[in-house]
Amino acid sequence: GLAAITEMIHTASLVHDDVLDAADTRRGGSAVHKLYSTRAAVMSGDFLLARASVAISRLGKTEVVQEMAKSLEALVQGEIMQLQSTADERLSLEYYLTKSYCKTASLMAFSCKSAALLANHDRESEVAVAAEKFGYHFGLAFQVIDDLLDFTGTSDTLGKPGLQDMALGLSTAPVLYGIDEHPELKTLVARKFGQPGDVQTACELVLDSQGLQRTKELATFHAQAAVDACCSLPESPARAG
Ligand code: IPE
Ligand code: MG
Ligand code: MG
Repeated sequence: GLAAITEMIHTASLVHDDVLDAADTRRGGSAVHKLYSTRAAVMSGDFLLARASVAISRLGKTEVVQEMAKSLEALVQGEIMQLQSTADERLSLEYYLTKSYCKTASLMAFSCKSAALLANHDRESEVAVAAEKFGYHFGLAFQVIDDLLDFTGTSDTLGKPGLQDMALGLSTAPVLYGIDEHPELKTLVARKFGQPGDVQTACELVLDSQGLQRTKELATFHAQAAVDACCSLPESPARAG
């Protein structure tokens, strides 16, 4: 039940996200708002969230309702952080990580924690804390890799458009690391790559830096931290998986 709920929330967030990002493809097909309409995408995303909320309450565990409600809040907060940011915030790796936690990792962290709560572990128990930690690091690794693939993937391999983030004005880990070697990227980040040629220029500068490599290392760090958190859970086939 909890896994299906998490998947419903994730799907709803993607249906809405493609409207916000004006992305036309998803998972190798047309995005919902392209296939039907923006109206349909807004309503079907809302419907999935509503259904998920009903299903969460049916699990009959108040703590799980609380954790999952927090994850819904964080999800929206992450998209808002991304939608409205100051130039200073866009230049900050810390802001980027907080935003990534909110829009992606929080769902995984609260879902994993909820799984522990459903198994009657206390909130502060070692198992619940380790489960949340696993979701947190796993989610961050996932989003950081997603941001890396935006540079290196093609729409064929991704099943969704590539090179979208800078076109949307977003500065992700590769750009933020690239700044260390090419400070002129700062100007482009500050103006959201808004002038003709900005995206192209920024892309070349990032590729000519350690940005992609350091991004991979950041993801690897979080992936390893996720494994470490997992290892403090009791042994089980699920853990081994
Ligand atoms: C994904 O964010 C949507 C959420 C996690 C809510 P992105 O916009 O970064 O991801 P893609 O590239 O569209 O999949
Ligand atoms: Mg987005
Ligand atoms: Mg998107």
